[in-house]
Amino acid sequence: MDIKNRSVVLIGATGGIGSALAKELDTQGARLTLVGRNEATLDALMATLSSPALKVVCDLSSDAGRRACTTRLAAQAPIDMVINAAGVSQFGWLSDSDEGDTAQMLAVNLELPIEMTRLLLPALDQSHGRIVNIGSTFGAIGYPGYSAYCASKFGLRGFSEALNRELSDTGLRVLYIAPRATRTCINSSQVERMNEALGNKVDSPELVARQICSAIARDARMVHLGNPEKILVRLNAVFSSVLGAALRRQLPTIKKFAMENN
Ligand SMILES: NC(=O)c1ccc[n+]([C@@H]2O[C@H](COP(=O)([O-])OP(=O)(O)OC[C@H]3O[C@@H](n4cnc5c(N)ncnc54)[C@H](OP(=O)(O)O)[C@@H]3O)[C@@H](O)[C@H]2O)c1
Repeated sequence: MDIKNRSVVLIGATGGIGSALAKELDTQGARLTLVGRNEATLDALMATLSSPALKVVCDLSSDAGRRACTTRLAAQAPIDMVINAAGVSQFGWLSDSDEGDTAQMLAVNLELPIEMTRLLLPALDQSHGRIVNIGSTFGAIGYPGYSAYCASKFGLRGFSEALNRELSDTGLRVLYIAPRATRTCINSSQVERMNEALGNKVDSPELVARQICSAIARDARMVHLGNPEKILVRLNAVFSSVLGAALRRQLPTIKKFAMENN
């Protein structure tokens, strides 16, 4: 889809990837509505954009909050694109987490995009509307220390694939775009140091934003960003034991960083 002049609702606009994406979409001529919880951060972001954007300040963690938000967004129908970029992550061994950690990751990374998509489907331009879900490499590769996060992103990938097939006799499409590690606040210093120790590549949010826009322009349905990650995703799908053995060798290093707070 050509981004120029399209109306784009960006959920999670205040995040590292979200704000870089807002700037890239603005550069490419999109008409933006930025959705976030923090009004001051949204205002600061809007001040950096070249075109005026709309903002919707709301808490999407409750059903009531989501309904109030989508009622306001529906006033701008037809919407060309909704991007689900909100997310949370917590690195650590499952045995050290509690039910609150799991519930939050499933709620923000999985329930939120599913519910926002469901509520916004009628407001999308039915002839060519696009839903863009921001996934993760960890939505296709199970990684130690990220079991609940992986569950949420595997779920988001499955949701995106199934809904895209469900809508295949309509003009609507679902895109799933999966960044690899990206330098944002979602990653703790433990994770940053672990990535360095393991030689994992980490992208800038600006590069990821450009790659997301490029995938949208190509109308790519399921994209994993970065090399070797996109190859590792394919390898894991066919020969998961090979990747499992490689991760087993890295386990002592991963465990060392995961246990740091214990
Ligand atoms: N950074 C990476 O390494 C990486 C890699 C692959 C995929 N991703 C995915 O990329 C997306 C963006 O992540 P990021 O790196 O930009 O993280 P980030 O900088 O921490 O931003 C997270 C965004 O999610 C929003 N959010 C968190 N909890 C929320 C809630 N309960 N209700 C509404 N919004 C909430 C935050 O809003 P507030 O500003 O109000 O907190 C913020 O806008 C996520 O889906 C993440 O899983 C990130």
